[in-house]
Amino acid sequence: MSDRSNSKPETGAFFARDRAWHPPAFSPGYKTSVLRSPQRALLSLDGTISEITGPVFGHSILNELDNDLIHNFARPGESAVGERIIVHGRVLDERGRPVPGVLLEFWQANAGGRYRHKKETYLAAIDPNFGGCGRAISDDEGRYAFRTIRPGAYPWPNGVNDWRPAHIHFSVFGHGFAQRLITQMYFEGDPMIWKCPIVGTIPDKQAIEQLIAPLDWGNTIPMDARAYKFDIVLRGRRSTLFENRLEGN
Ligand SMILES: [Fe+2]
Repeated sequence: MSDRSNSKPETGAFFARDRAWHPPAFSPGYKTSVLRSPQRALLSLDGTISEITGPVFGHSILNELDNDLIHNFARPGESAVGERIIVHGRVLDERGRPVPGVLLEFWQANAGGRYRHKKETYLAAIDPNFGGCGRAISDDEGRYAFRTIRPGAYPWPNGVNDWRPAHIHFSVFGHGFAQRLITQMYFEGDPMIWKCPIVGTIPDKQAIEQLIAPLDWGNTIPMDARAYKFDIVLRGRRSTLFENRLEGN
């Protein structure tokens, strides 16, 4: 983007992604990445208006049970099998400001570590009351929350004996496509995290720890569900540095 764009805050450029913080696309320990990663050097292109202004989502696109994975695919009066948990947190930008109106989509295996997908072959049982996906939109303070069951670990064909730690996949649409983030959340105290070849592609231990949601005892619902807190940081806008108004307005 040229500097001229900074006169229009809503269309300003985002900070460049820190590629030292994200895992390299080519990580042979994660075998699938060998064929999926680019074979040539990346080109840097200027953002276009459509990439830095959209998409925009409203709460009206959500159904009542979209943020309740315990019930959103369950038969009436029934619920998914597993440890009941709440996952919640805030979506912030790199300057620590809340990002409202963000669409968060999440998907996960069931309590036995099995996905409901026709190509899934793991022998763990399917839970007829668990679909494994849901969505939420962040509020004015960037907050989101959903209810689910804690997913199980599962084996996958990579090395001789590789397992994924319990995890929840997240897709996050911020205020521009440049803020799109696909990531995974792990659970505090899970020893499987440090054995996982996909986690192992992340070069910085602090970056891995950002993906591990701590048990949030204060938000546990007694006799119902434990809570885990997972904050998400999206790219911030460069233009805010040049805005002719007070910080935070
Ligand atoms: Fe997964």
